[in-house]
Amino acid sequence: MVISVINNKGGTGKTTTSLNLSATLTNMGYRVLLIDLDSQSSATVALGRGDDNKSTIADILFCGLPASGAVCSSSENFDFIPGSIRLADADLVFADCPDRCNIFRNILSTIRDDYDYIICDCPPSLSTVFVNSLVASDFFIVPVTPEYLALQGFSNLMRTVNLVKKNVNNDIRLIGVLLTMVNPRFTRDRKITREIQELIKEEFGDSLFKTKIIRNVMQSEAPYKNKTIINYAPYSTGSREYLSLAKEIVSRIKEN
Ligand SMILES: Nc1ncnc2c1ncn2[C@@H]1O[C@H](COP(=O)(O)OP(=O)(O)O)[C@@H](O)[C@H]1O
Ligand SMILES: [Mg+2]
Repeated sequence: MVISVINNKGGTGKTTTSLNLSATLTNMGYRVLLIDLDSQSSATVALGRGDDNKSTIADILFCGLPASGAVCSSSENFDFIPGSIRLADADLVFADCPDRCNIFRNILSTIRDDYDYIICDCPPSLSTVFVNSLVASDFFIVPVTPEYLALQGFSNLMRTVNLVKKNVNNDIRLIGVLLTMVNPRFTRDRKITREIQELIKEEFGDSLFKTKIIRNVMQSEAPYKNKTIINYAPYSTGSREYLSLAKEIVSRIKEN
């Protein structure tokens, strides 16, 4: 099962969700691989592996290294494939490649069966790497912050998703839209969250996850300790929220 965590806007919680979901699914007993597809490599840095990687996703995509050749084990017990700044070159490197949308799908086919869940942390763009991730995926999740501007690029995102669906990967399905960094403290924040929730429901019906991720300083501390919230603060609200999200995802996938 391959799941892309997507949003072309930066700072919506894609990396945090990818990391915490991977750690939670691992704790639930699933075999998990996290792939860092962002040239900024935030997930790799958060796992404390920013600069000591012999092989990265770039070696797999650009140099023909077999996928298994770049798989590392993380401190969090799930496998992962490190990101690389070289991913920023992908649009140019693949410009003349006729089958450029299928590169990642073909590569993943060699290791898909080794894992229950492969989580792809996508870049904040509608780039070739993003399209490759969608083409290789069975499902996708969209983390969204409760701000009016957060929904602005949404129509472009869904346009690309629908193009991929129509032309290359008919089978990809939305598991859900996830509200992240929700601030429940102030009346104004609660009002915006409610309004964004309504807008998402209008557009996507029941796809909005029941679980919401509350803004919590521990979520931003954890990466600096090279840990996910699940291991940094196992009894925190954030840990419980990601456990609840993982359970929702597992059950939605089973229903599909
Ligand atoms: N629930 C949360 N509460 C507080 N800070 C958060 C939360 N989720 C993410 N963050 C922080 O917000 C920033 C952006 O999150 P990130 O997951 O990197 O977004 P993206 O991958 O979409 O760019 C990071 O510094 C992260 O630690
Ligand atoms: Mg990110």
